[in-house]
Amino acid sequence: MLTKQWNGSEKVLARVSATANKGKTSKVALFLPGNSCLCVRTALAQGTIDEDTFIIAIEQDKKTANVIRRQLKTLVKRFHLHVGPIIETHLPDFIGNKKIDFAFLDFCGNLDIKLVQWLLYQSGSFSVGAQVAFTFCTLGRANNFIKETEWELNRKHKWLGIKKSIDNQLSAAYSTVLFRYGSENRFRIPTITAIWAILSCHFKTRVSSCIEYCDSSPMIMVKFDLVGPKNKVSKNARRFLEYCSCFDRLSGSDFGCLDFDDTQTKVKPIRVAAVERPSHLSPQQWAWHINNPNSIRNRYHVT
Ligand SMILES: C[S@@+](CC[C@H](N)C(=O)[O-])C[C@H]1O[C@@H](n2cnc3c(N)ncnc32)[C@H](O)[C@@H]1O
Repeated sequence: MLTKQWNGSEKVLARVSATANKGKTSKVALFLPGNSCLCVRTALAQGTIDEDTFIIAIEQDKKTANVIRRQLKTLVKRFHLHVGPIIETHLPDFIGNKKIDFAFLDFCGNLDIKLVQWLLYQSGSFSVGAQVAFTFCTLGRANNFIKETEWELNRKHKWLGIKKSIDNQLSAAYSTVLFRYGSENRFRIPTITAIWAILSCHFKTRVSSCIEYCDSSPMIMVKFDLVGPKNKVSKNARRFLEYCSCFDRLSGSDFGCLDFDDTQTKVKPIRVAAVERPSHLSPQQWAWHINNPNSIRNRYHVT
């Protein structure tokens, strides 16, 4: 049984690893600090940020945001607190032409298609050399995107290069990788791979640490180094994401297509089905069909 009890010390370890200092102090850092701002405090204690770091804090809950505001005033000199869902933010509005060099997005929720679309755009606001950490829930039962990602990854030869790359990255970072749940955790690798693929659309991306822990349900903290500008892997990463989105293979419904146009103007909405799938076509046939304006065939001009 995967659902385990909440364990505070496991989260502490994940937080310390997410906010660990890699030798330089961040100038612009992004957090979801929550009620206690523990991530900001731990990053300060480790020297990853200091009181001169400009903090961007995002919080969807008004009451929590007020608590965060009071604490940040005592912790750092300059911050911007955005109150509202993160997917409604456009990071360049907060940082102008600066770049974010450290981020810890402690979502503790699902990596769903809306968040994927937001990250796809907004990760262009990170700098080359940035460290970016996330936490996500790895119970994916109600999450179409992550279920599709798992299904795609199981098509072994198609994404073998991506699977091997993630394996190699996890092996290379072995001293900072801690998996607690064994192979029963189906959504661990799909979650890591999906975030890696999103970041890889903008940067050469490497996993630097990865720790499973238990909150109200099993979670994963995964941290990446953005080691360079995008490279030849980026195209494959983007193609992989394309395959994992667009339609829900299980229900046959179109749950939204990612828009990859990366002009950083505004937050991009997810595209919804322009044409309904005719009932005589299976979802797989429709994904490639010439009459489907969102089809993979149209996207890649496959003839
Ligand atoms: C897990 S808590 C943060 C804990 C904190 N980072 C720590 O180290 O203890 C996540 C916080 O982010 C907020 N949050 C989660 N998802 C969000 C979203 N999509 N948009 C805005 N705020 C979000 C939640 O309301 C919550 O206060």
